[in-house]
Amino acid sequence: MTPADVTFAPELAAHDPIIEEINAEAFGPGRFSRAAYHIREGGPHRRDLSFVALVDGEVVASVLMTPIAAGQGRALLLGPLAVRPAYKNLGIGRKLVAIALDAARADGWALSILVGDAPYYAPLGFSRVVPYGQLIMPRPVDPRRLLACELTPGALDDFIGEVTHADLAKKPAKGAEKLKAAE
Ligand SMILES: CC(C)(COP(=O)(O)OP(=O)(O)OC[C@H]1O[C@@H](n2cnc3c(N)ncnc32)[C@H](O)[C@@H]1OP(=O)(O)O)[C@@H](O)C(=O)NCCC(=O)NCCS
Repeated sequence: MTPADVTFAPELAAHDPIIEEINAEAFGPGRFSRAAYHIREGGPHRRDLSFVALVDGEVVASVLMTPIAAGQGRALLLGPLAVRPAYKNLGIGRKLVAIALDAARADGWALSILVGDAPYYAPLGFSRVVPYGQLIMPRPVDPRRLLACELTPGALDDFIGEVTHADLAKKPAKGAEKLKAAE
C-alpha cells in the first residue's frame, strides 16, 4: 500500500453511508454535540467541493465543505476530515485538504474555516482566528482550534458575528417583511 494506490474524486451521493461510517469511527458519538456539526445541520454541504480518497474503488477517507455565513461574509466550513485508521500517515488527509481548498478557490470562495488541531492544519494554510470573539459559534469551541484559511487576502475581515449555515443567513429575520412594508 503506497500513496500511488490512492485516488481522489468528488464526493457522490452513493458515498454517504461509508462516509458516515468513517466519521463514526473517527469521532464517535461525541461528534453530534460539536459546534461544527450543529452548523452543518443547518443545510446541505457542497458535494462538488467535497472529496473522497479511494483505494481499489473503496472510500477510505473524506472531507466535506459546507457553505457558512457570518455577517456579510461567506466561507466554506471544512470538515469533518477523517481517514480510516489503516490508511493514516500516507498523506491522504493533507491531500484531501489541498484538493478541497483548490476546488473552493476555483469556485470563487475567499475563505475557509474549521475547528481542528492547529499543528495539523497550520502547514496547510490555516491559522487561528484572532480575535476569537470575532466569531460566535453555536456551541463552545476551544479558541485555539478555531482556524481560518484566507484564499483571498483579507477575506476574514468581513466574516464577523454569528456563524450559521449559509442557507439560514439567506432567510429574512422573522417579521422583517412586515416591517419593510410599513416603512
Ligand atoms: C487527522 C487525520 C485526518 C490525518 O490524516 P492522515 O491522512 O493520517 O494525515 P497525513 O498523512 O496527511 O499527515 C500525517 C502527519 O500529520 C500528523 N498528524 C496527524 N494527526 C494530527 C493531529 N491531530 N495534530 C497534529 N498532527 C497530526 C502525523 O503525525 C503526521 O506527521 P508527519 O508527517 O510529521 O509524520 C487522521 O488521522 C484522522 O482521520 N484522525 C481522526 C479524525 C480527526 O481527528 N480529524 C480531524 C483532524 S483535527
